[in-house]
Amino acid sequence: MSNDRDFLTLASIPASEWPALWRNAIALKAERAAGQRHHALDGKTVALVFEKASTRTRVSFEVGVYELGGHAVVLSSQGSQIARGEPIEDTARVLAGYCNAIMIRTFGQDRVEALAQWANVPVINGLSDLHHPCQLAADLMTVIERFGALDGLRYTWIGDGNNMANSWIEAAGLFGLDLTLACPDGYRPDQTILAEATARCAASGRGRITVTNDVAAASRGADVLSTDVWASMGQEAEAQQRQTAFAGYCIDDAMLAAAAPRAIVLHCLPAHRGEEIMGSVLDGAQSAAWQQAENRLHAQKAILQWQFAK
Ligand code: CP
Ligand code: NVA
Repeated sequence: MSNDRDFLTLASIPASEWPALWRNAIALKAERAAGQRHHALDGKTVALVFEKASTRTRVSFEVGVYELGGHAVVLSSQGSQIARGEPIEDTARVLAGYCNAIMIRTFGQDRVEALAQWANVPVINGLSDLHHPCQLAADLMTVIERFGALDGLRYTWIGDGNNMANSWIEAAGLFGLDLTLACPDGYRPDQTILAEATARCAASGRGRITVTNDVAAASRGADVLSTDVWASMGQEAEAQQRQTAFAGYCIDDAMLAAAAPRAIVLHCLPAHRGEEIMGSVLDGAQSAAWQQAENRLHAQKAILQWQFAK
């Protein structure tokens, strides 16, 4: 089945359509502040399926669906038949019978894809082990708000080669970004995503992606410094060993001082102050993390409007 309005990774929306989507997200933000109401989801219901914990994704989607005139139904794996082993293919067909779209946060990207394959309504990836495209939609919107455009900036990722790093790499390929990722050996990003994005940069002649373990070189002169937790959801048992592996990968005041004077710092949150980022940086003047978190709401409303555009 599947649906041509699925949003499974950033590339689900053509690169050429993203600038209009971000313009719409910024307009939605201003219109919300002015008290304007929207109706793209009038009479529509969106299922929000969580197989992992969430604060931002859960609340921003529930509020966003409401603000577009729709209704959200939140389903956790615990307390539903998902945790008792009902196949995702069956869940997909049943939810698609009730709901006009489905967002899922889960483990393997294969579960997102199976849901999309078996549901004949638009599916949104609200985070998998491999990708976090909704977060990148908000992160790049934040960069546009702060710098006016995505071009001409040096982007640096510090830390784990995780779902967020993979989505940054996908973004670099799609939008021709100059991206350097500093990751410890053994914690590098997905090789397939890296190869595809690198090929895209080569084909378009725009963008460059470098993976290194030289943290100082990666962060020097950066305009956008991003990081994330060292142990993602599902990796809790590795937390101790990761603390050792990631020593030296903390965004602290010295690292920020070596970045560009105009640099902003992004963190998708939740953060572990004193591990991947110092509190003085996250709560400091160059942090854009709170704007970034708020932008989840506006960017996702624009994605929902894209999915339901006539
Ligand atoms: N950044 C993010 O996705 O936050 P939650 O895990 O709280 O949804
Ligand atoms: N990499 C983190 C992101 C949380 C929003 C995780 O997957 O847990």
